[in-house]
Amino acid sequence: MSDYTIERVKTGIPGLDELIEGGFPKGDTILIAGKAGTGKSILATQFIYKGVTEYNEPGVFVTLEESPILIKRNMLRFGMDLEKLEKEGKISIVDLSPSKEATPATIGEYPSFDLSGLQAIIMNHIKKINATRVVLDTLSIMAYKFRSRDILREEFFRLAANITRTGCTLLITSEIPAQETGLGVFDIEAFLASGVIVLYNEKISDTSRSRSIEVLKLRGSKHSSRIHSMRITDEGIRVWPGEISPGS
Ligand SMILES: Nc1ncnc2c1ncn2[C@@H]1O[C@H](COP(=O)(O)OP(=O)(O)OP(=O)(O)O)[C@@H](O)[C@H]1O
Ligand SMILES: [Mg+2]
Repeated sequence: MSDYTIERVKTGIPGLDELIEGGFPKGDTILIAGKAGTGKSILATQFIYKGVTEYNEPGVFVTLEESPILIKRNMLRFGMDLEKLEKEGKISIVDLSPSKEATPATIGEYPSFDLSGLQAIIMNHIKKINATRVVLDTLSIMAYKFRSRDILREEFFRLAANITRTGCTLLITSEIPAQETGLGVFDIEAFLASGVIVLYNEKISDTSRSRSIEVLKLRGSKHSSRIHSMRITDEGIRVWPGEISPGS
């Protein structure tokens, strides 16, 4: 393979790779954005789980929101046993959820604005299991902790750059507040991500909603510009590449 060929990382989401030329560009930072309950955490966790079970790629899942117990319980519903992979040393779940007392000091707090502690923790886990996939769920939690967007942006850019420099592909989830129509409180995609995927769960009639997915941007890729149907099935998230969302 030439140095200029973009290596692709399979997403582990059935149907999604077909929309993006075979997968995420290896070593890139991809933002998974969407309103509450649109499936961001499930998609990101599935990326880590399938990374191991289908592609033999170890992954680190950093949770800043839900506790690992809840994540494991929810994913088991889709037949994805994270606990087992964790015991086998194929995934690391880094618990920085609010239930952990050490969280504010670990992820940095006003006025210090420093993510180097978080970075050191993530780097250790990457090394320990030779990870090539990393998830940060969710960036939005940090946005609430840091009052200066500019400094958070700078710190975060450095964190993402240092993680992806190791060759890891980084997925970051970000919540779009309910009332927003754009990408969220701070225009993350402009400074950080080489790719942005948006998940929707829009009302299509008085009695129903419909899930869909959009590849808003993906550098170096000829991606679909349509909004495609997506469902959360008993086996996790699935995308229908040939099916255009009824809401769009
Ligand atoms: N077993 C399941 N079968 C079908 N749908 C499910 C199942 N488990 C969860 N869901 C759906 O997925 C949603 C939660 O998905 P997820 O936690 O990934 O959302 P999220 O975008 O991360 O939300 P938040 O912004 O609150 O973190 C639930 O609200 C529910 O609609
Ligand atoms: Mg979530």
